[in-house]
Amino acid sequence: MADPMRAQEVTLKDGRRVVIRPSRLRDAESLLRNVNLIGREEVYILLDQVSPNLDEERRWLGTFDGVRAVLLVADAGGEAIGSADCHAGTYAKTRHVGGIGIAIRDGWRGVGLGRILMERILEWMRARGFKKAELAVFGTNERARRLYESLGFETEGTSRRHVLIRGAYVDEILMGMWLQD
Ligand SMILES: CC(C)(COP(=O)(O)OP(=O)(O)OC[C@H]1O[C@@H](n2cnc3c(N)ncnc32)[C@H](O)[C@@H]1OP(=O)(O)O)[C@@H](O)C(=O)NCCC(=O)NCCS
Repeated sequence: MADPMRAQEVTLKDGRRVVIRPSRLRDAESLLRNVNLIGREEVYILLDQVSPNLDEERRWLGTFDGVRAVLLVADAGGEAIGSADCHAGTYAKTRHVGGIGIAIRDGWRGVGLGRILMERILEWMRARGFKKAELAVFGTNERARRLYESLGFETEGTSRRHVLIRGAYVDEILMGMWLQD
């Protein structure tokens, strides 16, 4: 079995290359840039803005131990242009579940990176013995929903009108996938 924490160079559908690898403390700056660029778009993720506190970001990065939590970055020449993370449930009753988040900045979408990052996260989860993957997605995020469905996620519930996006109430959809029996 391949090391789920490996660094791996991949070629995207448009020919550009990125390295998929676990995060490092020195990614703090570009990861902040990444989340804030995507947050500013308003329509994809809950966060609007993360305060640009590098120490805090590094502390947060230090919590990814590769065992119960991981953050994989897509590194383009030293800049994290996308990331995917997974956190185990915090209670004994939910430790078998990993919650996934993914965020790729504009300019790097639609060329296969999301699928690659999700497959690497799911590979890591299986290797670490997780039983279930879960995530939440805005009902309006067609691209993300199509990606998750194609990977085997199923809708498990809907929080109706749970998020307010640019003046409109939008459903949040909870999706899950059982990983192993
Ligand atoms: C959602 C996201 C992770 C998808 O990653 P991506 O790299 O853009 O998607 P990919 O190129 O890997 O495409 C994956 C699938 O999505 C679907 N897809 C891709 N582009 C699409 C588009 N423009 N419209 C609809 N579906 C699309 C296709 O089903 C595609 O399947 P394929 O691999 O068979 O072609 C990425 O666009 C992103 O981070 N967006 C902004 C933040 C966000 O929405 N995060 C998720 C919050 S839940």
